[in-house]
Formats: sequence, C-alpha cells, structure tokens
Amino acid sequence: MKIAVPAETMPGERRVALVPELVSRLTDAGLEVAVEPAAGAAARYSDDAYRSAGAAVEADALDGAQALLCVQPPAIEQVHRLDKDAITISFLPTARELELVRALRDAGTTAFAMELVPRVSRAQAMDALSSQALVAGYRSALIAAERLPRFFPLLMTAAGTVPPARVLVLGAGVAGLQAIATARRLGAVVRAYDVRAAAAEEVRSVGAEFIDLDLPTLEGAGGYAREATEERARRQRELLAPHVADADALITTAAVPGRPAPLLVTREMVEAMKPGSIVVDLAAESGGNVEGSKPGEELTVGNARVWGGRNVPSQMPGQASRLYATNVVNLLLLMNADGELKPDLSDEVLAGCCVTHAGEVRHGPTRELLGEDAE
Ligand code: NAI
Repeated sequence: MKIAVPAETMPGERRVALVPELVSRLTDAGLEVAVEPAAGAAARYSDDAYRSAGAAVEADALDGAQALLCVQPPAIEQVHRLDKDAITISFLPTARELELVRALRDAGTTAFAMELVPRVSRAQAMDALSSQALVAGYRSALIAAERLPRFFPLLMTAAGTVPPARVLVLGAGVAGLQAIATARRLGAVVRAYDVRAAAAEEVRSVGAEFIDLDLPTLEGAGGYAREATEERARRQRELLAPHVADADALITTAAVPGRPAPLLVTREMVEAMKPGSIVVDLAAESGGNVEGSKPGEELTVGNARVWGGRNVPSQMPGQASRLYATNVVNLLLLMNADGELKPDLSDEVLAGCCVTHAGEVRHGPTRELLGEDAE
C-alpha cells in the first residue's frame, strides 16, 4: 500500500505531514512511502533525507496512492489522483470546505480530520490540535518579547533595578499555558485568566497568578469552554480592562470549539494600554480575541501594537512538522493490519474524526451543513 505525502501548496504553509525520521515507522509496518519532490524543503527536510529513510521521492507520488497524508486539506484535484476508496488524513475544517467534503464523499474516500480526533487519553499521541497549539503558544511569548521595547526579566544592576515586564495571558488552554511557561522562563511576571474551572490550578502550576474575576465558570463538553452570553462577555471585558491597561504585553489564545473566537478585548481597552505595549492575538485567524486584529498583520492601536497570528506553527516548521507527523502516523497505524489499511470505524477514535467514508458524510454537523446547503 502506497502512502503519499504532497508538497503543501497553501501560501505560507511550511510544514510537511511526514518527516524522514518517521518514514521507518510506516515501512516497518509493511507500507510504502512516496513523497513529492521538495515536500519537506520549507521545513528543512531534504529529498535525500527522505530517500535515505526509505521513501521514494517522485513527482507522481499521489497517483494511485492508497493514503494521503497532508497538513492542509487536500485539493480536489489531488483527491482524484488517489486510488478509489483511499484514505486522507489532514486538517479539514469542514464548515469552510464543503466543496471538498462533497468531492471526498463522491470519490469514496475515507477522510479523517485531525481537529476532530477525540480528546480521550488513548488518543493523546494523535492530538494535533494540542501539538500545534504548543508550538503557537511558545512562539507567541517570543513574539511578544521580541517586539516589546523593554526587558522581560527583573534586573538588578549597578545602574539601578529594572522591574520585570508584566504579561497578561487570556485563554489558558494548551497554547496559553505554553505562552505562560515561556514568558515565565524569560523572567516576566505573568497573570492569566480563563473561563474553565480547572484553569486556575493549571495557571498556577506553570508559575503565573490566576486572575479571579468572580464570574461563573463556563464548562462545555469534553473539558472545553462554552460560549458566554453577551452579558457575561461584556462583564468579563469590564473586569479585565484594568488588567489589560496594566500589562506591557497581552497574549490572547481563547477559543470555543465550533464558534468564532470570543471577543475579549475591545479597541478601547487596547487604547488604554501604555506606550510601547504589545498585543499578540493568536486567535486572529478565527475572528480574533482583540477587536480589529488582523491575521498576519501588525497594526498600531493607540499606544500599542497589535500582532495578529496567522499559521503560527509554520514559524517553527521543522519541529511543528515532527510533532504533527507523529500524530498522523499514530492515527494511520491504528488502521494498519499487516500492511493493509483497514479503518475500523467502530473504534471511537477513528469514528470521531472520520468525515467521509464509503460515499457518505459521517460527521453529523457537516452532514447538517450540507443539507442546509441545498444539495
Ligand atoms: P481551545 O483552543 O479550544 O481554547 C483555548 C482556551 O480558551 C481554553 O482554555 C478555553 O477555556 C479558553 N476560553 C474560551 N473562551 C474564553 C473566554 N471567553 N475567556 C477566556 N478564556 C476563554 O482549548 P485547548 O487549548 O485546545 O484545550 C482546552 C482544554 O481541553 C485543556 O486545557 C484541557 O483541559 C483539555 N484538553 C484535553 C486533552 C486530552 O487529551 N484529554 C488534550 C488537550 C486539551
């Protein structure tokens, strides 16, 4: 069975879905690996490294392949090059990719979406949302540190004492906790807020102070947050305003699954920040936690600069790819039976992230969207 890995084509995407180091996990399992030329180039993995690891490097890697591993959703044209009933594994934000979902369904493809892998302990090694959020969170603290025109740590020098920078992190999930830990390692004083009840303890465990706003917590299904009412969101912004004004750097990472990012910080709140302050909005691509932030752009708002994240894991493409590839290989090997790929869709992990199979859309919310889409 041939497993194909394309060169990613989305502008700015520097990751690759399989790294040379992991090729042997597939070949040892009796699978063949074919990689498109220069697939790993932007992540600094050479064609020779793939060849040495046992993969074929060929322009027609996708033709007749039984499985396709990619980071971004495949192009419809790529799906048509695969074997009938092939498997695809990629990020697949179905609400934005309805045309592709139809093409996958009609081609009989078994398509898996990495963002739908259930967050159960058995599937932790396949959790690409976490592995990529880890990279983005780490990076966000460095972006803030690099852009802030002052020291992060406390310095006691012959020329006087320099107080540490004050960093505020809003949203303390995987990315937020990593941002906190990184800012702490650089010596900043970090405070954080999140709506989940478990967050207070998690924030303290990585060395930050949890801001208690004395508001009800918002727990949703699967350990995630749920959306706030407009009244609660307004009150939260009001209570957070003095903390935002007090921060030298603000990092926002808040998300609610299946919803646009919650608006945590208004333009007015940013305008009240001190001269030279920096805001890093990791949620910019999904609507933004900060009013007016734009993915991939750095804007001046009042005295502050607002940096909007766009595909932040691609800024560390080598290691982001290595982590993502591990997630993908672990998922693929769940389907392997002696060199044959046979996904058992009664397995809760595979069932949870399967979008299309055998000519049907299996993911309920996507099916509903397609129904509303006047088939
Ligand atoms: P996420 O990316 O969906 O959201 C990021 C953070 O934003 C979350 O902590 C959420 O509570 C917070 N948030 C949402 N609305 C907010 C608001 N209005 N104000 C402030 N914060 C807000 O979440 P992520 O990082 O993917 O994971 C969240 C949690 O899921 C983890 O902390 C953990 O409890 C759980 N998890 C479980 C895993 C498992 O395998 N069991 C793996 C990874 C995460």
